[in-house]
Amino acid sequence: MSSDSSRRIQVPEELKEVLLQFSISFLVEQPPDVIDYAVEYFTKLQSERPSVSHTDQSTDDQLSVNSQDADAEPPVMASSRRKSVFAEAYDPEADDDDDGATAVFPKTDEQRARLVESVKNVLLFRSLEKEQMNQVLDAMFERKVQPGDFIIRQGDDGDNFYVIESGVYKVYINDKHINTYNHTGLFGELALLYNMPRAATVQAETSGLLWAMDRQTFRRILLKSAFRKRKMYEELLNSVPMLKALQNYERMNLADALVSKSYDNGERIIKQGDAADGMYFIEEGTVSVRMDQDDAEVEISQLGKGQYFGELALVTHRPRAASVYATGGVVKLAFLDTEAFERIMGFLTDVLKRNIVIYEQMFTDMARRNTNL
Ligand code: CMP
Repeated sequence: MSSDSSRRIQVPEELKEVLLQFSISFLVEQPPDVIDYAVEYFTKLQSERPSVSHTDQSTDDQLSVNSQDADAEPPVMASSRRKSVFAEAYDPEADDDDDGATAVFPKTDEQRARLVESVKNVLLFRSLEKEQMNQVLDAMFERKVQPGDFIIRQGDDGDNFYVIESGVYKVYINDKHINTYNHTGLFGELALLYNMPRAATVQAETSGLLWAMDRQTFRRILLKSAFRKRKMYEELLNSVPMLKALQNYERMNLADALVSKSYDNGERIIKQGDAADGMYFIEEGTVSVRMDQDDAEVEISQLGKGQYFGELALVTHRPRAASVYATGGVVKLAFLDTEAFERIMGFLTDVLKRNIVIYEQMFTDMARRNTNL
């Protein structure tokens, strides 16, 4: 083949995507043997693949970085993938992003205190070790913004990741306003995390202050932990019907906020009457929900994988209405604390409140059963 004809060979989008997924997976897992891992990876991929034709768009969507639902909003990744800057299989060893040096921006005590306050609730930083957190704080630098400033433009290559100290920022996808940040939150992580063009435009509505981190530092310190966590909870979060109401992007933020907890058979997870500190999603195993009645506890329901509990007290702002126990072996749960619940799930409270009616019915049924005994 002449060099001219080889230059004309088009690399199919699907191939790039599969290789991207494989490479990230390989880097996250770090298996000892690349060939063995590849065999295992692609065999699994093939067995999980629904039987659709290769030209079917949904196949492509299933291979997207977040396995987004074909019908879920917004189709951000799908459209930006077409313009991906990612041309070859991702290899951070060869990535000149990783030049080994982490930038240090000296800060006054006052600046550092403000920065620490701003990053306090950044979910992406939650799983960092102390040393990594110090590197993150050293590497962040201040950026003042004016009303109307474009911080990020959709389609651009990703340079920085931003944490908001102050200011209002509007997010647009294809000129449609889809999100607003009010003096808190972070943005600009997607392009750096998935090595893709910017998924959205972010414009300052007011003056404000941002803390920025360059892409090299972000990828060196945060890539693995953030990617692993989003991947880990992706299946669980996609399987909870109530969460279908969240945008894909919000589901990713939810994954950042979750903390894994395990309970042995018989162990109490929640005690009736206690103050609530969060809610739980069941990753593995079953739990028994029990209520106090006449000096005894009576089971009112059993819940399994993909179901959730502990949300009622968060919605009603009242003490726990029932106790919950691990049953039938070890139970693996993903815990979402109250603060993150309110931030991410706040607008779902109406959906959650519908459960109150179901719970009341269960309670009535239980009372009736016991009267008939
Ligand atoms: P990034 O793609 O790097 O740049 C634009 C940023 O907008 C994106 O990362 C997210 O941090 C942020 N953003 C906020 N809401 C959304 C959304 N619904 N979809 C995609 N990006 C969003």
